[in-house]
Amino acid sequence: MSYKEKLDTKKIPRHVAIIMDGNGRWAKERNKNRIFGHKEGTKSVKSVVEAAHEIGVEYITLYAFSTENWNRPEKEISGLMSLLVSGIKEELNYLHKQNVKLSIIGDGKNISKNVKKAIDKAVEKTQNNTGLNVVIALSYSSRWEILNAVNNIIKDVSENKVSEQIDEQIFSSYLTTANIPDPELLIRTSGEVRISNFLLWQISYSELYFTEKFWPDFKKEEFFEAIYNYQNRERRFGKTSEQLK
Ligand code: IPE
Ligand code: IPE
Ligand code: MG
Repeated sequence: MSYKEKLDTKKIPRHVAIIMDGNGRWAKERNKNRIFGHKEGTKSVKSVVEAAHEIGVEYITLYAFSTENWNRPEKEISGLMSLLVSGIKEELNYLHKQNVKLSIIGDGKNISKNVKKAIDKAVEKTQNNTGLNVVIALSYSSRWEILNAVNNIIKDVSENKVSEQIDEQIFSSYLTTANIPDPELLIRTSGEVRISNFLLWQISYSELYFTEKFWPDFKKEEFFEAIYNYQNRERRFGKTSEQLK
């Protein structure tokens, strides 16, 4: 029986976040350059978006490029950016037909004009869609996001736009993920067991799933396996097991 068939359709997470890691090592194992790995990784993006759509996940957030990734060699950065642009251009009509709503989170200021243009076009075209929300974290880091929120709160408090009593809900509304529910599940591929500055606030109670598979080897069935694993956990939120019965 496939993992998809084993899933409990009543326990599908609303939001799944993914740290797509291991493209470089996947390529190295095949004596290819890193860009070859990133290119292969785009196929997994397509698979996983389709898989999420099939089982009714509402939000999928994909960590595509961190602020720390700006420290990579120039050639790799430009390769990644052009893959992003070509990926968006090639898939935009398909995504739109699937009723997908695309959005981007991250620090836009370092993104080049042509990348921005492709993104803006895709975001605008899909803005009224009501199906799966695909959120791309680009030039994103969680500490940047949190500090950005704090600075905006300080500004709004000084202009009396918000009261000084900041609660969780108000704070969340200043993050780039405002209006997006926290992920129930965070997946990281490639065997690394770390968060790498991703959604620190939002994952405070997420279930974490780490797999040895490199991102290019992570396809639909691996995604369903992760969901199956998630469904077999007990989420207690501080309570005892007995209290949940
Ligand atoms: C993930 O794969 C893609 C990005 C971080 C942009 P990596 O490029 O990090 O691949 P590894 O970790 O070096 O194998
Ligand atoms: C995290 O992967 C960022 C993305 C997947 C975009 P990295 O490969 O950059 O993270 P580290 O360097 O292993 O922490
Ligand atoms: Mg990596």
